[in-house]
Amino acid sequence: MKNLTADELRDMYLKFFESKGHAIIPGASVIPENDPTVLFTTAGMHPLVPYLMGAMEHPAGTRLTDVQKCVRTGDIDEVGDAAHLTFFEMLGNWSLNDYFKKEAISWSFEFLTTKLGFSPDQLSVTVFRGEGKEGDEGYIPADEEAVAIWKSLGIPDERIYRLPREDNWWGPAGTTGPCGPDTEMFIDTGKPKCGSDCRPGCHCGKFIEIWNDVFMQYNKNAEGKFEPLGRHNVDTGMGVERTICMMSGAPTVYDTEIFAPIMAKIDELSSMGKGAGAPELPSISPEERLRARRIIADHMRTATFILCDPKGGVKPGNVGANYVLRRLIRRAIRYSRMLGIAEGFTVKMAEVICEKYKHVYPELAANLETCRNDLAQEEKRFNATLDKGEAMYNKVAEQLKAHGQSQISGKTAFKLYDTFGFPIELTLEMAAKDGLTVDKEGFDEANRKHQELSRTTSAGSFKAGLQDNSEVVTRLHTATHLLHAALHKVLGPTANQKGSNITPERLRFDFAWPQKMTDEQKAEVEKLVNEWIAQGIDVTKKMTTVEEAKAEGAMALFGAKYGDQVSLYTIGDVSKEICCGPHVQNTKELGSFKIKKEEASSAGVRRIKAVIGNM
Ligand code: ALA
Repeated sequence: MKNLTADELRDMYLKFFESKGHAIIPGASVIPENDPTVLFTTAGMHPLVPYLMGAMEHPAGTRLTDVQKCVRTGDIDEVGDAAHLTFFEMLGNWSLNDYFKKEAISWSFEFLTTKLGFSPDQLSVTVFRGEGKEGDEGYIPADEEAVAIWKSLGIPDERIYRLPREDNWWGPAGTTGPCGPDTEMFIDTGKPKCGSDCRPGCHCGKFIEIWNDVFMQYNKNAEGKFEPLGRHNVDTGMGVERTICMMSGAPTVYDTEIFAPIMAKIDELSSMGKGAGAPELPSISPEERLRARRIIADHMRTATFILCDPKGGVKPGNVGANYVLRRLIRRAIRYSRMLGIAEGFTVKMAEVICEKYKHVYPELAANLETCRNDLAQEEKRFNATLDKGEAMYNKVAEQLKAHGQSQISGKTAFKLYDTFGFPIELTLEMAAKDGLTVDKEGFDEANRKHQELSRTTSAGSFKAGLQDNSEVVTRLHTATHLLHAALHKVLGPTANQKGSNITPERLRFDFAWPQKMTDEQKAEVEKLVNEWIAQGIDVTKKMTTVEEAKAEGAMALFGAKYGDQVSLYTIGDVSKEICCGPHVQNTKELGSFKIKKEEASSAGVRRIKAVIGNM
C-alpha cells in the first residue's frame, strides 16, 4: 500500500482510465443543473444521467472518467464519527453502453492492486444476490457473472458476499432514473470481527468500502417500477478521502493530509496548544472535543464548496438547498462555541479550505470574496440569535436557583426554542454545566402539541421563531397537505386525516384506512406528490369562515373547534384545507417527497412517515 496524497491519487486514477481509452472530463457543479429531484450533486453519475439513459450522446465518447465534488447531507447527524462526511470527492469511470462487468471489475482490481498497492488478500467484495423468482414480475437474477469475474481474479468465495437490494443496488440518485445492481469493494482493516455476522457493510470499522461498480441496466420509472434500460452502462465511484485514509493507515479521514491544515486551523482558533495566557477552554470531554472538531471541519468544507460553486446562487436561507447550507454553517458555529472559538471563524476556515483546494478547484479562489461575505453575515446573524437565547436562558437559570429549584420545565425549554430560537441541545448543555436538569420529555411533548395545534385550530398563530428547524417544518406542513390530497386521490375520500405530527426530521400522518397500503398505492401517492412539487404550484391563503371554506370543498378536521375566522390554504386545484399554516409559497420549495414508512397506527388507522428534499 502506498502513501499517496489526494493530488497524486486523482492524477493516478484519471491517467489509469485514460490509458484504458477513457476521456477525462471536467467534474460538474455541486449544485445540479435542471434537476428538481435532488438539492445537490450526490454522485459522479448525477451530471451524466441523460447520457446513461441514452437520451443523448456524450461529446467526449462512451468511456469517461472524472473527479466529482459531491454533497450528501442525509447522514448529517452521523458526522463527527470516524467516517461520515457531508462533502467528498468521487473518482469515477463510466461506460455509456460500451464495456461491461468484465472490464469494469478487472480494471478496478488492477488499479487497486497494481497502482495503489493493496494486496488482493485485503480485499472483500459484495455482489447482488438477486430478487424474486424466475418467471415472476420484477425478477432480477443474482449477479453470478460478477462472482465469476472476481473468482477469476483470485478472490476466494468466502470473501465474496452475496447481499440483498439494501446493500447491493445503487440508485437512482433522485426519485427516478438509472440504477442497477452493484459490486462493492472493501478493504479489510485487519481488526477482529465485531460478531459472527460482521461482514462488509457492517459499521464496526473492520471493513471500509472504497469503491463501487454499478451495472446500470435499469431505470426506476415514475411508478416506482424497475424497467430494463436496454443499455449496459457502468457507473463507478471511489471516495478520495476514504481511499487516502486507508492507504496512509490514518485512523480516520480527519487524520489524513487532506484535513491536516483544516484541523490545525481549528486547533489554533480554539487556542489549543497556545500555552500560558491562552483563554480557558470551555470544559468539555475529550470525546466531545474530538467530535466538535470533526463537525466543524466537515461542515465548513461543505459550506465553502457550496458557496464557491461556479453555478452560484445557493446562499444561507430557509428552503431547499439554501436551508441545508444554513444548517451546516449554523451547526459548525454551535460547535465552534463549544470549543471557545471566537466570532469570525467561518471566514478563516473558508480561507484555509480555499488554500488547500484552489489548485484543483479554481472556483474556490475565484469566489472566495463572496463566500467570505456570506459566511460573515450568516455568522453574525446566528450569533445574535444565540446571544439573545443565552441571555434568556441565564434569566431562567437564575430564577430557578433563586427559588431553590433544579429543573427547567419542558414548557420553558420549549419557549426558549420556539420564541428565542435557542436550540434545545444548547439548553441541555448549559443546564448540565449549571447543575440543572431539563424536562426533555416535557419539551418533546410541548413541541408535539404545538405542531398539532398549529394544524388543527386557528386560535393563536404559529410562531415561527428563529430556529433553523422552523423552516423545514414549514415545508413539511405543505408536504402534509399534498400527501393528504394524494391519499384521497389514490385511496378515495374516506382516507381522512386522523393525526399529524411534524419534527424537523420527518412528517408523520395518520389516516383512516383499514389495511396495509400496497407498494403500488404507495408509489402512486409518491408520484402524485412529486408531480405536484415539480409543477411548482403556488400556495395561497385567505381568511374566511368555516362554513364558506367547507362550501368551497375544503378539508377540515372533523370535530375540531375553529374560530369565527379561519385561514384556508389552497394549493392550485390540488388541495384546500383549513389550517393555521405556516406553508411555503410554492410547492417547488419542497424539492422532492419520499415515503419512508407505512404502518399500522391503531385499528383502522394507518401511519405514514415521509421526508422531503434530500433530508
Ligand atoms: N454512483 C455510485 C455510488 O455513488 C458509483 O456509489
